[in-house]
Formats: sequence, structure tokens, C-alpha cells
Amino acid sequence: MIRINENYQKLKASYLFADIARRVNAYAAAHPDRPVIRLGIGDVTEPLPRACIEALHAATDEMGQRATFRGYGPEQGYAFLREAIAQHDYAARGCEVAPDEIFVSDGAKCDCANIQEIFAQDARLAIPDPVYPVYLDTNVMAGRTGANVDGRYAGITYLDSTPANGYVPAVPPGPADLIYLCFPNNPTGAVATRAQLAAWVAYARENRAILLYDSAYEAYIRDPQIPHSIYEIPGAREVAIEFRSFSKTAGFTGLRCAYTVVPKTLQASDAAGQGQSVHALWNRRHTTKFNGVAYPIQRAAGGGGNAARPAPTPPRNDILKRPPQQKSGGGAPPRAAAAVSPAAGQEQTRALTDFYLGNAKLIREAVQRLGFTCVGGDNAPYIWVNTGRDSWEFFDLLLSRAQVVCTPGAGFGRCGEGHVRISAFNSRENVAAALERIAAALR
Ligand SMILES: Cc1ncc(COP(=O)(O)O)c(C=O)c1O
Repeated sequence: MIRINENYQKLKASYLFADIARRVNAYAAAHPDRPVIRLGIGDVTEPLPRACIEALHAATDEMGQRATFRGYGPEQGYAFLREAIAQHDYAARGCEVAPDEIFVSDGAKCDCANIQEIFAQDARLAIPDPVYPVYLDTNVMAGRTGANVDGRYAGITYLDSTPANGYVPAVPPGPADLIYLCFPNNPTGAVATRAQLAAWVAYARENRAILLYDSAYEAYIRDPQIPHSIYEIPGAREVAIEFRSFSKTAGFTGLRCAYTVVPKTLQASDAAGQGQSVHALWNRRHTTKFNGVAYPIQRAAGGGGNAARPAPTPPRNDILKRPPQQKSGGGAPPRAAAAVSPAAGQEQTRALTDFYLGNAKLIREAVQRLGFTCVGGDNAPYIWVNTGRDSWEFFDLLLSRAQVVCTPGAGFGRCGEGHVRISAFNSRENVAAALERIAAALR
């Protein structure tokens, strides 16, 4: 009989959010008269910015006309979006990122999951604890770890994020090759200062390591001293890959659009010790395994509803004759763009993140009034509460006494024990009601 990939059997049996859903469903079934408010899973709740919707409609109409219909686009993303990202997300912050160093995809989750496959099987990994589980699980699946013993996989350097270090881990004492970092952090909401990031860049340069920098929540940063991108740190272009997403920035969790930056200056070594371009490897992987994000979605992310339209792509059989890198579809940069544009779209997107940050502030203040210490919520949509007791016990307590769902920290790693994550992704009304209930339940 065909054998399975046994590495999958090393994965911890249950998935955190499935566990939570099971407990919440059981509670809701037993107490139909007590509606539950969910501040657990980090999914957005508010509708898309108007500029994105307009762009989506206009692009959909284009797909219905022979003259403007588009088939396969460039796997790496349309030039209009890559140029808008390079301009508004990077050049505007003084970062050097060229449009062709940006790979548009259907999610930062997939990119963070897939990136490991272009590196050696014996790459030494450093992964934060607590952690967004994708970084860890994908390396377990790929066979880079040993068994899970007491909640930790053999072969990983865990970067503990604890109250003692303000939930921002310092560089490890020993060497690592691939280092996952995420700021603003999920689940803790902690942010890293310029000096802390500079220490990581220096470490990576010294150890010839690569930083995998997940900045999916950068749009929530309000403190002007906090870097939004790892490329704000000098020297990062030689040692860092950055992941970003429109999911939490512009409410695209259902639409799906993200991007990964792989600088052409980034190298990793082959077996002979020769430097190889990581950009070339990722381009090969991306074009082999991915066929591009839907045109209307890319328009919604970066193209304008009333934008100057790029020339339509030639019919599909023309495209198929060309190598993938040469697919057409760049076109003129949009005049009025959506999520990454300078004008209406950007303002509307900012209003969305402001709204969730307003929720986060209410949560943070309420939690502090109850006497808990916490981080996050000021430059991130998550509040990480130090509960001082077992995190699943605290989860059950909030569910049974307040009918509020949070996420038990232990589900994100050993260092998450004693904490819960409260998410600001909900309506103001629900957040206010949840906070009243929590206050009443814990008073
Ligand atoms: C840290 C982090 N990275 C990436 C993602 C995934 O984003 P996307 O919706 O683009 O797949 C999430 C989503 O929750 C996240 O929290």
C-alpha cells in the first residue's frame, strides 16, 4: 500500500481553532438563550472599502467584454499592482524595493507556508513561541523537525516571547539559518523597535541566515518610531524576505490577495558553497506552482475603479506560446487606486484599521481596569492578556460566565500558557457588549 508522509503524524493532533469551535458550539447548543460574542479567531468583520468594491465591479465588467477580457495574467502579479506596492508601501517609506521583487499571491498564509521548500532540508530553524502556527507546522510537514515532546518539536530553536523580554525575543546565542519573525505580532500584538530589528538584521548578516519577516499587520502601526518593513533597516535587503497581506489591511480575508518581497540581492548557498539567487528560486517555484491572483481581485487591491485601463492581454493561446515571465498585463499605473493607492482607497483603508484600533483601545483599557497586564492593541489588532492562570481554564471561564470567546494562549505554544489573545475584529457594539460582560463576570 502507498505510504503517507509520516511527518504529518508528528503534528499535534488537534487544530486550535477547531478545538475552540467545538467548545463554543457545545456551549451554544446547551445554552441557546445566551448568545456568544466571538473575539477569538482573527477574521475581519467590516465590509470592504468602497474604492475596492468599485474597482472590483469595474474589473468584473471588463471581464464581460471581448475587448477587455483577460485570461491568465502574469503569475507574479500585474505590473499595475506591483508598481503601486513598490511606490506606496516601500518607496514612500524610503525602502528600496523594485516592482519585480514583489510576488503577488492569494495569501500570506500560503507564502509563509511555501517559502521553506526552497531551502535545504537540514536548514536550522528559529521560530517564535508563541507563534502563528503556519511557520512551525509547515516545517514539521516538510520533515525538518523531530517528534513533539511536551509541546515542543526536537530540532527547533524556539524564540521565547515572554513578559521578561516584553514579548520580543532577542537573537539566539547559537546559529540559525532560517528565522521566522512577525511584527506586529500575532498572537501577542507586540511590536519590535528599530534597534531590536537592527539586532536581528546584524545577526542574520553575521550568521549568513535569512529572516522571514511577516508584516501582515503593519498597517496597524501608529507609533511613528516603529518600522513597518524590515527593509527600513539598513542591510536587510541581503538577509530578509518580507510577507504582507491585504487581509487585515483592507478586509481581504474573503477576497484573497497578498504579496511577498524577495530582494534580488538576497543569496543562499548551494552544496558547493556557491551563492545562488533566492529571488530566482522563488520565481521558479511561484511560476511553477501558482497561476496568479484573479484580475478583479488585483484591481481591488491596487487598481482603481475609474482607473486608466491597461491594454487587455492577448488571447490565451498567444500567452501560452510565451514563457511565463513574459506574460503581458502590466498596463498604465492606475490613477485612482484601491487599497494601496494614494487617494480615496488609502484613506478608506486607513479608516478600517483605525476602526479596529478603536476597538483594540477599548479592550486594552477594559482589561487593564480589571487589573491584568497586557501587550498589543496600540499598534496591532490583538491584545495579549497575562491572565496568571491556565489559559484554557480562563477561556472556559469567559465562555461560561460572559459568553465571550477568546483564544487560549497555550494553543500558540508553550510560552502562550497563562495568556489569552483577544481580537479587536468585531463590531463596536459587540466589543462594547463583550467588555461589559467580561467586567461583570470577573468583578
Ligand atoms: C501573522 C499572520 N500572517 C499571515 C496571515 C495570513 O494572511 P492571509 O489572509 O493573507 O493568508 C495571518 C492571518 O491571520 C497572520 O496572522
